[in-house]
Amino acid sequence: MWRPPERIQYESGFGHMPSREEAAASLLFSPLKIGPVTIKQRSWIPAMVPWRATEEGFVTDNVIDWYARFARGRPGAIVVEATGIRDVPSGPLMRIGHERYIPGLRRLVDAVRDASDGETRLFIQLIDFLSIRRRPDPKKYLERFLVITDAHRAALGDASLSDDDVRARLAALPRADLVQALTKTELEALDYGYRERVTDTHLAHIRDLPQALPGLFSDAAARAQEAGFDGVELHYAHAYTMASFLSRTNTREDGYGGARENRLRLPLEVYAAVRARTGKDFAVGCRFLADECIDGGSDVSDARVFGTAFARAGMDFLSTSRGGKFDDAKQPSVGGTAYPYTGRSGYECMPQYISDARGPFGRNVEATSAIRADIRAAGFDTPIVCAGGVHNFDMAEKMLKDGVCDIVGSARQSLADPDWFRKVATGHGQDVRLCEFTNYCEALDQKHKVVTCQLWDKLDVGQEGVKTTVDGKRRLTAPDWSPA
Ligand SMILES: Cc1cc2nc3c(=O)[nH]c(=O)nc-3n(C[C@H](O)[C@H](O)[C@H](O)COP(=O)(O)O)c2cc1C
Ligand code: SF4
Repeated sequence: MWRPPERIQYESGFGHMPSREEAAASLLFSPLKIGPVTIKQRSWIPAMVPWRATEEGFVTDNVIDWYARFARGRPGAIVVEATGIRDVPSGPLMRIGHERYIPGLRRLVDAVRDASDGETRLFIQLIDFLSIRRRPDPKKYLERFLVITDAHRAALGDASLSDDDVRARLAALPRADLVQALTKTELEALDYGYRERVTDTHLAHIRDLPQALPGLFSDAAARAQEAGFDGVELHYAHAYTMASFLSRTNTREDGYGGARENRLRLPLEVYAAVRARTGKDFAVGCRFLADECIDGGSDVSDARVFGTAFARAGMDFLSTSRGGKFDDAKQPSVGGTAYPYTGRSGYECMPQYISDARGPFGRNVEATSAIRADIRAAGFDTPIVCAGGVHNFDMAEKMLKDGVCDIVGSARQSLADPDWFRKVATGHGQDVRLCEFTNYCEALDQKHKVVTCQLWDKLDVGQEGVKTTVDGKRRLTAPDWSPA
C-alpha cells in the first residue's frame, strides 16, 4: 500500500473514558431518525467486504456469523458489504441480482435482529462495477489480445503489413517506441490489465448504462426490502460505476458526463427509480466521495453540490468516504488485477498508522463538515455519516458536537472490537481493544482472502467451538465479551 513519504507513526488512544451516566447523556448514544427508521444510537458500522460468500455470491454461515458478531455489540446500524446487483459471476462477492439470493439474505437479517435483540438497524450496500482484467503477460498480449489496427501499421511506417507482421514488429520494439505505437488504452491494458470506463461509449453496454442501471438498482433494492432490510445504501463511492459517473473524469457527451449537473443525472435517476420501487417506508441513502483524491478528479467543491442535490432529491441518509480509485492504483504483477486501494487515493480511503502531518484519524472530517453545512444551509436535515480513523468516544462525540456529522462510522475499530460501542456505553471503556490501523485486514481484503483482525484472529484457535479459516490458522470472529 502507498504511504505518505513523511512516514510519521501514530498510535490510537482511549481518550477520555465516559462513565455510564456520561455516556447515556452523550450525543453518540442518543437516537436519531433516518427517514422511516430510528437508530437507537449514532454508531454505524460501514460496509466491509469480508470475502465469506460462496463463489456464486450466496450468504454462508460464515457471513451470518460475521454480521451476528457485529450485531452483538449493538451498534445503531450496520451496513452489509458491497453486494452486486447483477446476475453475473463476480467471484465470492455477495450478490442480490436475482430472487434466489433472497432466502440467504433474509437469514442474515434475522440473525442480526436476534443477535442485537432488535436494536441494530440493517442496511445493505448495493454496488455495480465495470469489467477489469488481469495484467497480461506482455508477450501474450502483443501476440494474441491486442486488436491490430491501421494506426499500428501507420506507427510502424508500413501500411502493407499483415496482422502477424504487425504483432512481431511491435513485440520487437524497445519500450520507448512501443509506447508511441500503442494508444493510451492499449498501453494501459498491457501494463495494468484492460479496464472498462464509463466513457467507453463505443461499447453498447457502456453506452446503455443510463438505461440499464435504474432498473438493476431498483430490482436489487426491492429484493433487499423483501429480505427484510431496513434500507439500502447505494454505492456511489470509490472505484465503481456510479462514482465514475460523478467523477470529473467522466467526459461522456450524452448528457451524463461533463458538467456537474450532467454527472449527477444518473445517480439521481437511479435514486428516483429505487425510491419509486421501494416506497417511503424503506430507507434509501448513498455513500459518495467527499473527495476523489486523484489528479483531475472531483473534490469537495463537487461533493458539496452532490450532497445537497442528493438531500434535495429526498435521500434518507448520506455517508461520505474518500479516494479508493483505480486511477492511481499500483501496477499489479503479471497475472494480478489492479486494486483501487493501493495508491494515494487508496490511502485516503483507509489511512494507516504510518502517515503525514494530518495523521490517519479523521481525514474526512473537514470535507464532510463542509458538505453537511451546505446541506443544512439549503434547508435539509438529512443525516450525514462520517467515517475514517474513528476509534474512541472523544473523537466520535466531538464530531457530533462540532456538527461534522450526525452519525459516526467506524469500520476497522469495529472489526478490531465489535463491542467497543457497548463497552463505552456501559462504562467498560478500558476493555476496548483499540484498532492499531496496521491494515492487516485490508491486505487480506486485497487478496480476496477471508478478512479477520490481527488483534484477535489467533486467540483460542484450536479450542472447541472456535470456527477458523479452512487452513485452521485464524479464528473467524472476535471472541465474545459480556459486561462483568
Ligand atoms: C476489509 C475492508 C473492506 C471494506 N469494504 C468496503 C465496502 O464493501 N464498501 C465500502 O463502501 N467501503 C468498504 N471499506 C471501507 C470502509 O467502509 C471505511 O470507509 C474505511 O475503512 C475507513 O473507515 P475506518 O477508518 O473506520 O476503517 C472496507 C474497509 C475494509 C477495511
Ligand atoms: S487488522 Fe485489526 S488492528 Fe489492524 S487495521 Fe485491521 S482492524 Fe485494525
